[in-house]
Amino acid sequence: MLFEKHRFVSLPPATYARFVLDETKCTGCGRCVKTCPIQLLTLDNGKARPNDRYDSFRCITCQNCASVCPEGAIRIEGTYRVSKGYWKNDHLYSGEKTTPEPLPKYKDKPFDDFAYELTETERVIYNRRSIRLYRKKQVPKEMVRRVIEAGRFAPSAGNNQPWKFIAVQNREVIDEINQKCKNFIKIIMRGTMPKQWLEKRVPGDKDAKLSFGQTLLTNLLIRWRAGELDPRARGGMNTVTSDPDYDIFLGAPTLIILLADKRGIGSIDLDTGICAQNMVLAAHSLGLGTCYIGLIDGLMMYPNYREKLGITPPFEIVTALTLGYPQGRIDKIVSREQARIKWVE
Ligand SMILES: Cc1cc2nc3c(=O)[nH]c(=O)nc-3n(C[C@H](O)[C@H](O)[C@H](O)COP(=O)(O)O)c2cc1C
Ligand code: SF4
Ligand code: SF4
Repeated sequence: MLFEKHRFVSLPPATYARFVLDETKCTGCGRCVKTCPIQLLTLDNGKARPNDRYDSFRCITCQNCASVCPEGAIRIEGTYRVSKGYWKNDHLYSGEKTTPEPLPKYKDKPFDDFAYELTETERVIYNRRSIRLYRKKQVPKEMVRRVIEAGRFAPSAGNNQPWKFIAVQNREVIDEINQKCKNFIKIIMRGTMPKQWLEKRVPGDKDAKLSFGQTLLTNLLIRWRAGELDPRARGGMNTVTSDPDYDIFLGAPTLIILLADKRGIGSIDLDTGICAQNMVLAAHSLGLGTCYIGLIDGLMMYPNYREKLGITPPFEIVTALTLGYPQGRIDKIVSREQARIKWVE
C-alpha cells in the first residue's frame, strides 16, 4: 500500500512476548516484580502476576524476570512482532528465538551440557545479563578503576581513544541526576503519551488514546527520534515518569557516565560503545553487575549542571553504566532472535 509506512505510528497492531508462571514453583519472593524494567508485574496472593500496565505496555522480552527467579518459575514465550504499518517487522525475522548455539553439534541442547567446551570469554558473554537488583555495598575504587581499565584498551577508529569517564559514587548526586533525566523524559512523554497515563504508576485505563495534537507530533517526531517512539521504549519511559519513586539508576551504588570527544575520528558512539562493552564484560567476570542507562540522555537539558559534573566541551555524553554487587544470582542464559546472516561465497 502506498502510505503503508506512515500507518500505525503511535499504536501498531503488535503481538508481544507473554509472561508464563509455574504457580507451583513461585514462592512470592518478589524479585521478578522489582527487576522488570517496564514494571509489568505484581504480587497477588503471594504469586507473581502481570499487573494492569501489562495490557497497555508490553514486555520487551528481556527475560530479566526469569533470570532473577531463584525457583525457575517463569517462562517468557513468544516475542514482539508487528504485521503492518510503520513498525512492521515480522518479515525481518526467521525461525524462533533460541538459547546460544555456538556449537552445531549441541543444537537444541541446554547450555550447561556444553558450557565446558566453550572459552571463559564465551561463557561470560552468554551468561551476562543487565542487573537491576543491587546490594547497597559500595564498589571499592580500585575495582571501579579495574573495570574502566578494560575500557581503556578497547579498539577505536585511528586509535583515537575519544572516551572520558565520570565515576559517581555519591548517592545524593546520583539522585539529582535521576531527577533531572526524569524531568526531560516527562517532556517527551507529555507530547506523545495519553494524558491519563502520565502520572499513574499503573495505567489501568485501556481506552486512553492520544489527542489529535499528540498524534500529529508523534508523526513528525518519528522522522528524527524514531527510537524513543518505539512502542516498547514508550512503555519503559512511561514507567520512569509515572512512578515518582522510580530510580533510573536502579539503586546502584556507582554510576559511570561515558563521554567522548565529539571531534573523534569515525563514530564516537561506536568507539565508546565498544569501550563500554569491554567494561561490562570485565565487570561481569569480577562478579559485578552493570546495566546500560540510555536514559542519561536527559542531562542534555542541563548545561550548567553538566559543567558541575565535569561534562564540558569537547566531551559529550554517549551512555552510562550502573555498577554494583548483584543481589543474589542473576546472570543466566536467555533466548534471542536468530542472527540475520547473508553468506556471500
Ligand atoms: C544502549 C543501551 C541503552 C540501554 N538503556 C537502558 C535503560 O535506560 N534502562 C534500563 O533499565 N536498561 C537499559 N538497557 C538494557 C537493555 O534493556 C538490555 O540490555 C536488554 O533488555 C537485554 O537484556 P540483557 O542486557 O539482560 O541481555 C540499555 C541497553 C543498551 C545497550
Ligand atoms: S521479560 Fe522483561 S519486560 Fe518482560 S515481564 Fe519479564 S522483566 Fe518485564
Ligand atoms: S522471582 Fe520467581 S519465585 Fe519470586 S515472585 Fe517472581 S516468580 Fe515467584
